[in-house]
Parts: sequence; structure tokens; C-alpha cells
Amino acid sequence: MGCTAGRRPRCRAGLRSWTAVCKQRTLWLQRSACLNTQQNTVPCHVSARSASQTTVDPEEVRRFQSLASKWWDEQGEFAALHAMNDLRVPFIRDNLLNVHRVRHPGKPLRGLRILDVGCGGGLLTEPLGRLGANVLGIDPVGDSIGTAQLHSSIDPDLCECVCYRASTLEELAAEEDEAEEEQGAGQFDAVIASEVVEHLADLETFAFCCNQVLKLGGSLFITTINKTNLSYALGIVVAEQLLHIVPSGTHDWDKFISPVELERLLESNGFSVQSVQGMLYNPVSGAWSWTDSTAINYALHAVKVRDDPHTEQAGGSSTHPEDHHTTATHG
Ligand SMILES: C[S@@+](CC[C@H](N)C(=O)[O-])C[C@H]1O[C@@H](n2cnc3c(N)ncnc32)[C@H](O)[C@@H]1O
Repeated sequence: MGCTAGRRPRCRAGLRSWTAVCKQRTLWLQRSACLNTQQNTVPCHVSARSASQTTVDPEEVRRFQSLASKWWDEQGEFAALHAMNDLRVPFIRDNLLNVHRVRHPGKPLRGLRILDVGCGGGLLTEPLGRLGANVLGIDPVGDSIGTAQLHSSIDPDLCECVCYRASTLEELAAEEDEAEEEQGAGQFDAVIASEVVEHLADLETFAFCCNQVLKLGGSLFITTINKTNLSYALGIVVAEQLLHIVPSGTHDWDKFISPVELERLLESNGFSVQSVQGMLYNPVSGAWSWTDSTAINYALHAVKVRDDPHTEQAGGSSTHPEDHHTTATHG
């Protein structure tokens, strides 16, 4: 299957559409704030979080730019991400097979279109392509996209199913918005943001745009770091400053998010969270394992249940996510 998701951005129309996406989102945020005031409820994080309408933090882009040639060094700065594939690839595959009930022996994800947001050098994009999915990897760091393209070109099996673009999610969502008007459908069966949300400037825009680019019933997979004392001690002090498992300065604790807060954000953007699983990294063996505790790292699977996020808000029937999904212990 050819990678049909890698169209070039249509700049003028794209900009116009992004304005429309922003307007729609601003309207929704205003309605949410209004409803919260009217109902005298505790204002949800929607109004508390930034509404800068870009996910890009220029400082983060600069940091990853300086590492763009290092992605495929399995013993280097991204060794822990290479090892994480042992958990995240089966997590994505098995949840997608559960949702979509597709059966293609050998290529189990054949027929599914996946967007890998913040793909970096394609460490996760490639194995998903090998499972048969049609994957588009995007990243705002052009040099990382160059590394990803170069590496995937080595494997002829990947050229048909994996492609990359230097782009942000919001740029893609603007194109989707335009395409939707023409065709009436979101594009992707799944969106993946693995170890990405802790690097974004605006999670509201991220969640909103994930909804925009997904089909109804499509899956969102996120792996990230919890906001706990333990994640500060192990994720920043030990991993960055003592053991140098990841480069110093990679993470900013303020940008970490707890599973509960992430679930609320997603539920208010038209998603239903299906599962949250704790993940644990062993710095001695260099291996990841599943754990009952989400106190440090976790993986989340959500399904898009509404096209229009604000309809649920207006109905006031939103329930706390923990009421209706199985989850590990939150740290
Ligand atoms: C820790 S790396 C994870 C890379 C890849 N997902 C993986 O797990 O192998 C974080 C990635 O997020 C990207 N990133 C930073 N800001 C972003 C944004 N606003 N939108 C999408 N990706 C972003 C970085 O360039 C980097 O490639």
C-alpha cells in the first residue's frame, strides 16, 4: 500500500483552515469556561492550561535538533527509546487488533493508517510499518526527519508503507480540516505520541488536533512521564544528572502530566480512555517492563468517541474517566 498521507502542505489554504480550526477551538474553550461559570463548577484544566494554539516549544526543537544524527545509535542518547519498543509496539498492535478486529497473518496492521506524532528518527514508525500499517511520521525537527528518511530507505520493504514529513500536528490538522470539508472524514485510524507530550508547549491544542485528524472510533496512544516526586527523582535526577541515560536538560518536570489530568484533557476533547498501564525502566539491564504503578512512566490508550468535543461539555454529562476504564495504580 502506498503512503498516501504524505501530501505536501498547501500553504495558503492550510493557513486559512488553521485559522478556522483555531476559531472553532477558541469558541469551544469560551463555551467550556462559560459553562463552568454558569454551573459553578470547579473550572477544569481547559482554561488553566495554555491556549497558545501551537504545540511547538522552540527550546525543545533546538534541543532535538542538536541530537538529530543520534537516533539510530542503539547504545547512545536514545537507547531507552529503542528498548521501549519491546513494550510499546505490542501495546499498540494488540490494542489496535482489539479495536479493529483485522486479521492479516504476518502483517497484522495492514489496512490501517497511523500517524506517529513527534516521530524523531522513526524508532517506532519503522516497526509499525513492518507490521503492515501505512505510517506517516511527523516531527517539527527537519534534520530528524532527514535521519528517519535515510534510515528507512535502507529497507526496501518500508518504502511502500512508511513516509515522513517535517510538520507539526496543527499544520496537519489544518489540512485535515480542509480535506474533511471535501470528503467528510478524518484521516487516521490511529495517532501515536510516544514520549512527546512532555515536550509540547500546549497540550490543549495537541488533544484538539488529535481529535481532528482521527476517524471516529480511531485510537490514540500516548506514552509519557507522570508528574510525581518519584518521576522527578528518577526521571530527572538519576536518569539525566547521575546516570546520563538521557541527555541532561531533556525533561522539564513542569511539563509532565499525571494520568488523571491527561485523561481529563482527552475526555474533554472527545476521547474515551480505555486503558492506562505503568512502565518501568531498569537502568542496569536496559530493559522495560510493565508494572501496576504509573508513578513514573505510563502508556495510555484512548478511543475517539465524538467528532465535536464541546457537545459533551454542553450536555454536562461528562464523567470522570476513572469511573469507566481499568487503570493501574496512579502515582
Ligand atoms: C523523546 S523524542 C521521542 C521520539 C519518538 N516518538 C520515539 O519515541 O522514538 C520527542 C520528539 O518529539 C518531537 N517534538 C518536539 N516538539 C514537538 C511538537 N510540537 N510536535 C511534534 N513533535 C515534537 C521532538 O523533535 C522529538 O523528536
